[in-house]
Amino acid sequence: MKFENADRDRESLNKKMGYPYNIALIGFMGAGKSTVSHQLRQMLNLQEYETDEMIVQKEGMAITEIFEKRGEPYFRDCESRVVASLGECSQSVISCGGGLVMRAENVANLKKSSRIVLLRAQPATILGRVINSTGRPILNGHMNEEYISSLMEKRRGAYESAADIVVDTDKKSIRKICDELLEKLAAYKN
Ligand code: S3P
Repeated sequence: MKFENADRDRESLNKKMGYPYNIALIGFMGAGKSTVSHQLRQMLNLQEYETDEMIVQKEGMAITEIFEKRGEPYFRDCESRVVASLGECSQSVISCGGGLVMRAENVANLKKSSRIVLLRAQPATILGRVINSTGRPILNGHMNEEYISSLMEKRRGAYESAADIVVDTDKKSIRKICDELLEKLAAYKN
């Protein structure tokens, strides 16, 4: 789909927010970050960055391979480096890996130039979205609602305190999610 007024809509949002902030999408695996990110890129003619994708490019390995060969702490260090490197970007949407906000330094780096949007979904919705995925090492061997629910609960505080705005994605079309997100961003005041 082509969005005729993407540049005008982006400028109008920048004006309402008072500054051309980036939009950083955070939330649990399967919350809809990548899908929403692609849609926002098109709707507002933004640059798009996906932290997982940047790590894969840099390391020359898939996420699962990085976890297997180097371990999770190594992957988390890669995430922190990627977020730090995004400090200079503007007019962008940044889709963050689901565990990225567990490090306070990453949140602080994101906050320098981005409004942080938490995308949420119920554990059952998440499971339905990720059940056939083999590329998420955190869920390998734990592909069930109970595990998703308990990990989500452990992360809830970090997600919610990092977020400037929150959008629930259950049972909503991608267009509805993006429209709601942009309305909330335009209305957001520090
Ligand atoms: C992770 C989420 C993944 C990816 C990695 C770890 C997590 O990203 O960064 O597998 O700890 O929640 P998505 O949220 O895009 O699936």
